[in-house]
Amino acid sequence: MNSGTPTPGSQWDPEQYNRFAGEREQPFWDLRSLLEPVSSPRVADLGCGDGRLTSALHRELRAASTTGVDLSESMLARAATHAGGGVTFISADLSTWSDSGVDVVFSNAALQWVPHHPEVLERWRSSLAEGGQLAVQVPSNADHPSHAALRELAVERLGPEAPADPVATNVLAPEEYARLLDALGFERQHVRLQVYAHRLDSAADVVEWMKGTSLTRFRLSMDPAAYESLVDEYRRRLAAALPDSRPYLYAFKRILLWGRLPG
Ligand SMILES: C[S@@+](CC[C@H](N)C(=O)[O-])C[C@H]1O[C@@H](n2cnc3c(N)ncnc32)[C@H](O)[C@@H]1O
Repeated sequence: MNSGTPTPGSQWDPEQYNRFAGEREQPFWDLRSLLEPVSSPRVADLGCGDGRLTSALHRELRAASTTGVDLSESMLARAATHAGGGVTFISADLSTWSDSGVDVVFSNAALQWVPHHPEVLERWRSSLAEGGQLAVQVPSNADHPSHAALRELAVERLGPEAPADPVATNVLAPEEYARLLDALGFERQHVRLQVYAHRLDSAADVVEWMKGTSLTRFRLSMDPAAYESLVDEYRRRLAAALPDSRPYLYAFKRILLWGRLPG
């Protein structure tokens, strides 16, 4: 796997991802609050995950229709239970997805898995109707010890073949997204870096957090024993790198971006 390869869809683990559902949900609603009111919009939720928040968004926006897009079979299987009443789910790659006449393109915590954000966002922009809105949230936490220690360990264990950290490789600086939105014709925009103060029981819980996201790329590409050994060593290094405070404050940076086309 390399940075250009999306997370293999069928292997995403909804249970592990949802262990910190409350902490992971707040940015979703912060992103939603950037949207301006629009009557009966057509909505696309790209990288929709298990669909629970997709259907909540659909109700919140009183949308005419909402399409959730994901590649993960396990996520889409769960999402199917939220389909109906105008909500549908499809299997597609968000990096090549396009449509037309969409009023709101929404994507929470998914774009970081794919490279070439200028091209992807241009495709998403061309899917929007006049006056359409784009709202995207990506993590921007690659410089935190939780990510840095994992990258270092991965190179030691796997050498140049180590799967790349998608956040480090793919996510741009906030100001680059601002320039991009402007170049793509968004008349108004809001881009911010926000620090989420996640209170975990202890620093050891950072490993559990990472199992739901960044460690996935290792679980998918290593044999189980080698993966377990990598996680054990990662746990040991994090314990040395992070303070032994209870609770542990996991300060997690995210970029929220919103733009609206002239309408
Ligand atoms: C961190 S989860 C976020 C789920 C949901 N948006 C939420 O806020 O809870 C990321 C989702 O992106 C999906 N994903 C990753 N790469 C993708 C791709 N290239 N195309 C479509 N979905 C992708 C994963 O399957 C996963 O469901």
